[in-house]
Amino acid sequence: MKHLPPARTVKPLITADEIAQRMRFMAEDIARRFPDDLMIVSLLRGSFVFAADLIRALHEVHDYPILPQVDFMTLASYGSGTSSSGSIEIIRDISEPVEGRDVLIIDDILESGRTLTYARDLILQRHARSARIAVLLEKPGKRKFNINADMVGFVIPDHFVIGYGLDYDNYYRELPFIGILPDGIA
Ligand code: IMP
Ligand code: MG
Repeated sequence: MKHLPPARTVKPLITADEIAQRMRFMAEDIARRFPDDLMIVSLLRGSFVFAADLIRALHEVHDYPILPQVDFMTLASYGSGTSSSGSIEIIRDISEPVEGRDVLIIDDILESGRTLTYARDLILQRHARSARIAVLLEKPGKRKFNINADMVGFVIPDHFVIGYGLDYDNYYRELPFIGILPDGIA
């Protein structure tokens, strides 16, 4: 076991209640604005908790019923540290065809934009009809690629955050809230 602060000691930056409330708003917005036969592509591993909550929140939007399909893609861009590294690799591809589909790509955080630029270009190269992006978090001022999300959960200051699917070295994904990695770790 590595020498890391116990998960119980991590302080929330965004609480579970705040996330749940925002999730209902985002789901309503997605259901209202986007086609009802969306293909949702969740980028692993970081977005799995967000995706799981968002699709269930979508189900609760009664005014705009939608019938999405869900797939997953694992892309690697970070090593086991907290800074951005070189290029992107597909570790696991989606298994559904996206040709002619309206795709909603879901990711945990938009930082440099490298991951999402890669994912969106890939989906569009495969002749999706549209490729939109929803992210849980956005760190402004860190962008290296010209890309924006169509939907953002929370804009956060430039700290390394963990929890609700986001990790440090594959730890802390289980936190039900978003916290800041304590100083001196990364
Ligand atoms: P980008 O490609 O630079 O936009 O980085 C996006 C990816 O970097 C995310 O999908 C995360 O996996 C990772 N990442 C960036 N910032 C953080 C953070 O503060 N905490 C955890 N992961 C992060
Ligand atoms: Mg990630």
